[in-house]
Amino acid sequence: MRTHTASYVAVMVVGLAAFSTVPRIRTPVHQPPEPAARSDGDTIGGVVTGPSGPEAGVWVIAETSELATKFVKIVVTDDQGRYLLPDLPKATYRVWVRGYGLVDSRAVRATPGRTLNLTAVVAPDARAAAHYYPAGYWFSLIRVPAKSEFGPTGADGNGGASPNVRSQAEWIRILKSGGCWACHQLGSLGTREIPKALGTFESSTAAWLRRLQSGQAGGQMIGTVSQLGAKRALAMFADWTDRIAGGAVPPTPPRPQGIERNVVITEWDWADPKAYLHDEVSTDRRNPTLNANGSIYGCHEPGPADSARSQHRAGRGTADSSLALLGHRGAVDQ
Ligand code: HEC
Repeated sequence: MRTHTASYVAVMVVGLAAFSTVPRIRTPVHQPPEPAARSDGDTIGGVVTGPSGPEAGVWVIAETSELATKFVKIVVTDDQGRYLLPDLPKATYRVWVRGYGLVDSRAVRATPGRTLNLTAVVAPDARAAAHYYPAGYWFSLIRVPAKSEFGPTGADGNGGASPNVRSQAEWIRILKSGGCWACHQLGSLGTREIPKALGTFESSTAAWLRRLQSGQAGGQMIGTVSQLGAKRALAMFADWTDRIAGGAVPPTPPRPQGIERNVVITEWDWADPKAYLHDEVSTDRRNPTLNANGSIYGCHEPGPADSARSQHRAGRGTADSSLALLGHRGAVDQ
C-alpha cells in the first residue's frame, strides 16, 4: 500500500549479468569458490556463503541514498554462490543478502571496486522465511466459495454470495483481474494482516468491512465486495487473514534457476512522498529502442492527493492527466 500512501515510484530496469558469459570455474568443494569476476572500478562482487556452503539463487541487494534519488541494484548468486553487482555509480552502498529460506542479512557498507564476501542468515522458522515470499503465494491461501455455493438458490441459500455471480469462475474473475487485482495485488503484508492501528472490532469480518473503506478508493473496494455479495466475500477475507494470523504459511517458492540467475535489476526512485504518480513510460513498446537513455514520463492519477501535480508539470498535459517530466537517468549516474 506504500505506493498509494507515500507514492514513491521506482523505475526498474532488468538486464543480463555481465558474468553470464564468464566461463564456469570448476572448484573443488573444500575450497571457497573464486569470485565471479574480478571487481573493477565500478563493481562489487564476491561469494555468498551460508552454514552449509555457497548459497545459490539468492539475491544480493545494494542500495544507496547518496545519489540524486534512491538507487538500488539487485543481482542473483550463481550455483557457486558468486555474485557481481555491475555498473555502480560512485557512492557508499548498503549491501545484503535476501533469499527463500533466509532472513535478510545485516547490511554491510561497501564502495565499488571491492570484493565483498557475504554471509547468508538461515530463517529460524517457516514463518520468518515466508515473510519474503511473493504476495501471490500468500494469496493462494485464500479459500473461495465452493462450486456448490453458486446457482439459482437466491439470496442466502448460497451463503451470501450474490445471485448475480453465477459460478465459482466468475467469482474468481471478479476477485482477481475484474476487481481487486485491477488496482493492486492481494497477499502483500498490508493486505494479509489487519493493522492494530485500524482499531478494535467485534469480529474479523467487521474489521474487513472497515478497512475496505480506507482511502480514496474505499468506494470502489466496497463496490467490488458488493458485486461479489458482501456477506460471503467478507467471510472469505476474514477466514483468510484469521488463518494467516494463526500461523498458516504458503508453500516455499523455488529459488531462481538457470538464466534467472543472470538477471540484473536497477531501480531509481523518483517523484516525492506527496506525488501520486500512477503510470510511467520510457519508450514505445512497438519500438523499444526509441528514447534510449532518455527521459521518463510519469502521469498523475487525478484525485484529492494530487496537489503536487503542478510542481511536476511539463506543460503538456490535460487537466485530468498531466504528463509530468520527472526522472532522468542522466541525473543519477552519468
Ligand atoms: C479502484 C482501485 C481499487 C480496487 C478495485 C480495490 N482496491 Fe484495495 N486499495 C486501493 C487503494 C488506493 C488502497 C490504499 C488506500 C489508502 O490507504 O489510501 C487500497 C487499500 C487496500 C487495503 C489496505 C487497507 C488498510 O489500510 O488496511 C486492503 C486490505 C485492500 N485494499 C483490499 C482490497 C480488496 C479485497 C479489493 C477487492 C474486493 C480491493 N482492495 C479493490 C485501491 C483499490
